[in-house]
Amino acid sequence: MMNSRRLASWTLLAALAACGCDRPVASPSLKAVSAASASPFAVDIAFDRPQSRLEVANKSHYLIRRVGADGPGTVPQSVQFIDTLFGETVRTTFQLGTLEDSTLYEVTVRGARDAYGNAYLPGDSVVAAVRTGLNYDSPLREALDRRCNRCHAGAAPAAGYRTDSYASLFGFGSDSAAAHPIHNLIPGDAQCLLVVKTGPKGKEFSRAHLTYAESELFRNWVVSYQARR
Ligand code: HEC
Repeated sequence: MMNSRRLASWTLLAALAACGCDRPVASPSLKAVSAASASPFAVDIAFDRPQSRLEVANKSHYLIRRVGADGPGTVPQSVQFIDTLFGETVRTTFQLGTLEDSTLYEVTVRGARDAYGNAYLPGDSVVAAVRTGLNYDSPLREALDRRCNRCHAGAAPAAGYRTDSYASLFGFGSDSAAAHPIHNLIPGDAQCLLVVKTGPKGKEFSRAHLTYAESELFRNWVVSYQARR
């Protein structure tokens, strides 16, 4: 016997499924496939829904090419399914020296299958642009705008910590009155508060509704790119 409460929640779920809004937090600026540098030799590729584990780590599905360069492009040396939480993000790794810093590339993804094994992309192929390297000016500033500033800016920022300027990210936040305050952002330090809090086990990960790829953006910027401007 189904009680009315249970019935109501099933009806809600069915309605959500029917309108395709199974991810309640919409990310208007995220595309079906997006790409971002993880390090000088790695590019993360994020899908907007869970992927087939069988297909997503197949390196022949990916090709990276410098915009304006001749030739077909380069297949990654390896592909790792790094997103154990949502199953949406892979890390493609290239031989050191393949990718130039601060340069426009395009990543072609072919033959992707979603978690149910269905062809995922219309036409089965999609191109995502990526500018190699991570800087505060792009794409970190946009990510902070999108996910953090609504709580960490204005007259009374949460924890006394502002995320709406480069300089303020280095602030002490709740440590301000401590005898030995520690900066929330320490370039190169994977244990600084900004990285820990935005990691998949951190409070800000759920509070800000980060995708796995966004969470990696914070860590990679701080660790691989020394939180550069
Ligand atoms: C819904 C509001 C909200 C959002 C969105 C949010 N935060 Fe927070 N954040 C808080 C609150 C409240 C605290 C203080 C309580 C705590 O530490 O858990 C906090 C604490 C922090 C701290 C620790 C500060 C300190 O010095 O103790 C950091 C770092 C931080 N947030 C970073 C971020 C980043 C980066 C984002 C975006 C990815 C973000 N937060 C999004 C509300 C928010």
